[in-house]
Amino acid sequence: MSAITALHDRCSVGPRHLRGPAPGYEELLQVAAAAAAAPDHASLGPFRLIHIPDLARNRLADVFAAAATEADPESDDEALAKARKRALAGPGLLAVVVELKEHPQVPPEEQWVSAGAALQNTLLALEALGYRAKMLSGARVRSSALRAAFELGDGAHLLGFIAVGRHNGDVKHATRRAAEQVLSEWAPPGD
Ligand SMILES: Cc1cc2nc3c(=O)[nH]c(=O)nc-3n(C[C@H](O)[C@H](O)[C@H](O)COP(=O)(O)O)c2cc1C
Repeated sequence: MSAITALHDRCSVGPRHLRGPAPGYEELLQVAAAAAAAPDHASLGPFRLIHIPDLARNRLADVFAAAATEADPESDDEALAKARKRALAGPGLLAVVVELKEHPQVPPEEQWVSAGAALQNTLLALEALGYRAKMLSGARVRSSALRAAFELGDGAHLLGFIAVGRHNGDVKHATRRAAEQVLSEWAPPGD
């Protein structure tokens, strides 16, 4: 598949539709190297990937349950089980952290864009290695439970989680804008 076709074909597949195996460490290093190739003004490195090992999934599920209780102290067993399930879904799981730094020439918006480009490189690299993936967030990513679990300090944001695995069969593309809606020709005002 050509690179341009791969770009057009990229498609998120949710954790319920993914199966194992998840990418191994060497593949994750290739993915991380693709993320590191994103444009990054002043090389501030605002983007980080944190792999959640299988053995730690249950601990993360506890944190998801704590985040649910934080959002609603009345959460019942069913709600907590649902929250826990989200941490266990998908063969592989990566947390995405954005760390903004103070810099005289690089405002936060440039760092966010750099992180977005790194996220896209991550998703494309996973697809290039034969996986499908989906970026997921939810209000829980801003909870103190999750912030503490990932030891996030000032300027750090848990953007969410990438679920990743194998997927055979058709994918359903989200509605996309036509290329002509994205691209236009500039004309000086008044012309
Ligand atoms: C930072 C970020 C967070 C997202 N969080 C969610 C989410 O919590 N739930 C969801 O259904 N989609 C979420 N999405 C959107 C999906 O990852 C996906 O892009 C969307 O379903 C469109 O599908 P496509 O990627 O195949 O075009 C998020 C996307 C980004 C960039």
